[in-house]
Amino acid sequence: MTETAMPKDPTIAFLSDQLDTRYLLPAFREVFPQARLLPGGTAHSEADLQPLDAIDMVVCWMPQHGLMARMPGLKMIQSVGAGVDHITADPDLPALPVCRIVDPDMASGMAAYVCWAVTHRQRSMDAYLDSQRSARWQEQAVVPARRHRVGIAGLGTLGLHCAHALAAIGYAVRGWSRGPKTGLPGGISSFHGPDQLDDFLSGCDTLVCLLPLTDETQGLLGARLFARLPAGAHVVNVGRGDHLVEPDLIEALDSGHLGGATLDAFSQEPLPQDHPFWRHPRITVTPHIATRTAPLVIARQAKSNYEAVLSGRPAPGATDLARGY
Ligand code: NAP
Ligand code: GLV
Repeated sequence: MTETAMPKDPTIAFLSDQLDTRYLLPAFREVFPQARLLPGGTAHSEADLQPLDAIDMVVCWMPQHGLMARMPGLKMIQSVGAGVDHITADPDLPALPVCRIVDPDMASGMAAYVCWAVTHRQRSMDAYLDSQRSARWQEQAVVPARRHRVGIAGLGTLGLHCAHALAAIGYAVRGWSRGPKTGLPGGISSFHGPDQLDDFLSGCDTLVCLLPLTDETQGLLGARLFARLPAGAHVVNVGRGDHLVEPDLIEALDSGHLGGATLDAFSQEPLPQDHPFWRHPRITVTPHIATRTAPLVIARQAKSNYEAVLSGRPAPGATDLARGY
């Protein structure tokens, strides 16, 4: 299809089982002034999206399964985040481009969170917060950053940014990816593939999970992997909840093998009130806030992806569905 055939006024549907997507509307109105926007999310029903055959693009976070398969005019699917697992989980997903967000601000937000998580535990900040509660002036032992090894599983857009930030502080950083990496700066060593996983893990005083959720990575953070980490290791999961085998984490913490965990993503979100993670003394929970992307960035990237798809070019944010990310 040529540029001239591009519809000027696409119909864009916002889908989510979990999120009220109305916060995106002002930005999409600015970027697609002629578009028809159909808001979705927990406060909306399928009736708000009619007629389904007029929809050109879906923008989503945890879309309702089976709905996109009933949109015969659909041209592409845009995730509001970096991950697309919430889209590829739809068993009736139509064979269309699925695009993700790649955003430098999202990467710096993630680097800030990960540096906080690492330094918080490595510099005993919980002990200082306890001391303050009883007005006690008490120093904790300091291990220099260069002697603390931080491993990042997933050395992609976000993982690489975190690796640079941690190396700049002075941590001994290593990364693990699917394929080999070249040209990494000094101070960041790299491992790849299942054959190098155990070597990678054996040098992680902190392990940060920044993998996409795929068939290969689901459940990776389980008993087998924990057993290969050094005693006392800290696990930071900023990937997805389903990377983690929850009972295996509790067991590894309670046995004393793992020193702590900082968790931002959960199999069930919001995390149920009675979930043991909330009250575990060595688990820090945050509500999937490690990083965010501004609505205007999402709208602009959706536009360049949409234009590329309509003109037959590869969309800049397109994912490889065979790989799963
Ligand atoms: P990305 O650029 O696609 O990078 C993914 C990295 O994971 C790549 O280095 C890739 O290896 C590696 N990888 C994939 N499958 C692997 C496997 N089987 N074995 C080893 N390494 C594997 O993704 P990103 O933008 O950095 O985002 C990563 C994930 O972060 C997202 O998918 C999402 O789940 C999560 N996230 C969380 C939040 C939050 O707030 N908590 C926010 C945004 C994103 P190659 O380099 O060899 O391809
Ligand atoms: C958030 O988790 C994202 O995938 O951007």
